Amino acid sequence: MSALPDQNRLIIFDTTLRDGEQSPGASMTRDEKVRIARQLERLRVDVIEAGFAAASPGDFEAIRAISGAVRESTICSLSRANDRDIARAAEALAPAARKRIHTFIATSPLHMQMKLRMEPEQVLEQAKLAIRYARHHTDDIEFSPEDGSRSDEEFLCRVLEAVIAEGATTINFPDTVGYAVPEQFGERIRRLRERVPNSDKAIWSVHCHNDLGLAVANSLAGVAIGGARQIECTINGLGERAGNTSLEEVVMALRTRHDYFNLAVGIDTTQIVPASKMVSQITGFAVQPNKAVVGANAFAHASGIHQDGILKARETYEIMRAEDVGWTTNKIVLGKLSGRNAFKARLQELGIELESEQEVNAAFARFKELADRKAEIFDEDIMALVSSADHEQAGETYRLVSLAQRSETGALPHAKIVFAVDGKEVSAESSGDGPVDAVITAIESVVKSGAEQVLFSINAISNGPQSQGEVTIRLSHSGRIVNGVGADPDIIVASAKAYLAGLNKLHSKVERVNPQGV
Ligand code: KIV
Ligand code: ZN
Repeated sequence: MSALPDQNRLIIFDTTLRDGEQSPGASMTRDEKVRIARQLERLRVDVIEAGFAAASPGDFEAIRAISGAVRESTICSLSRANDRDIARAAEALAPAARKRIHTFIATSPLHMQMKLRMEPEQVLEQAKLAIRYARHHTDDIEFSPEDGSRSDEEFLCRVLEAVIAEGATTINFPDTVGYAVPEQFGERIRRLRERVPNSDKAIWSVHCHNDLGLAVANSLAGVAIGGARQIECTINGLGERAGNTSLEEVVMALRTRHDYFNLAVGIDTTQIVPASKMVSQITGFAVQPNKAVVGANAFAHASGIHQDGILKARETYEIMRAEDVGWTTNKIVLGKLSGRNAFKARLQELGIELESEQEVNAAFARFKELADRKAEIFDEDIMALVSSADHEQAGETYRLVSLAQRSETGALPHAKIVFAVDGKEVSAESSGDGPVDAVITAIESVVKSGAEQVLFSINAISNGPQSQGEVTIRLSHSGRIVNGVGADPDIIVASAKAYLAGLNKLHSKVERVNPQGV
């Protein structure tokens, strides 16, 4: 395969399901990943990095399911530079219409010495062997020199020339620890492309982390100065530590400043906000209100002067249109009287494909339950209830049955909860500093998990006082971090659901290998 034919087209490579999932607590179920992958396909991303096949059987299954479900985007699996990982990636990708293997090895002195304990010549050899082996499985091979921005340039030139000669078709330059600054980063890519003799045989790509808040700026510099033609990014900038380059920001920068970048992307920008909401709801990572493009305030104008300007001419204070990135005025989609067919049709419009009629029935029963308590049901409510049904299907240990809670000014809140443990109902009660504390103390009086609660957040799923509250509780235990998410019109009930969801995740003891950990 040769380099990209159209130099004015930029490839969007989404790694929400791989690097994004490496965020502490952001693990997703197979069905959640398929749902996000379908949304990424609707967004028309060119490449979806669906995971790291060798990480765990669950990761493998998710990549395989996505490879079967998505037809329009190329599906990619990460793999370390060894035969076992590459074979596993190829096996998981087998059903894909278009597949890519992304293999990597660290090239910085620090990583080679301290992490890999390998000599540079060994690293070079292993990189070549990995590409040679990957070629048995596909022609579409991406190579990343991990910790690229702290690697020696001479050595990088040798490695990159060698892997392109072996058949790597994309060279992805990662700023693994978010150390780069834009001009220097762009210049480095430009020099590498100049110095590597066969550089024109590959598409150059950038992969930036946001430790200094520069991921988007670095990626754009890699494109504008360095000549990269692929950007790796995630929805909402999800990713390890401070995250990755955010898809919505780079895409809208390229679109809005087409006069400057002069590059086309194939993204359907109207799918950006739905994708952002879906990822936030599934992972429990709330989007900050002032986040560019997808934050709740991104198109809100509070000051009188700005409002006046907008009314006279929108362009006075807006450089993008809210509707172009998928903001819609929240419309009521369903209600108490809606039937099963209307519900099923709405699921389809949201890209939610439940596998069996039994699953549709279960989701519909939940919908009816919710509609009895909440007059107006929005898309966000439907997504939340499908997500909780997913978790139930995935064989939960703990499930909320009922909760009674009492709070009164001047008195200690008290909670009485009934929940199922492996199908058997238990009840517990407790007082607490606040109502949520009372609920969690009651649960813990039975479960005794020993988990530490490291984050608690509540968000309104939709607008208005009738909105369901969505609670995220992050638990940490024996080095594992999980997010439990729960939604309910009653935020104390949502908290109980979130806590039990977190305990379920801790209980599932899924062992995953972090690709960059070894
Ligand atoms: O940040 C990084 O270096 C990575 C590589 C595996 C591409 O995620
Ligand atoms: Zn990364």
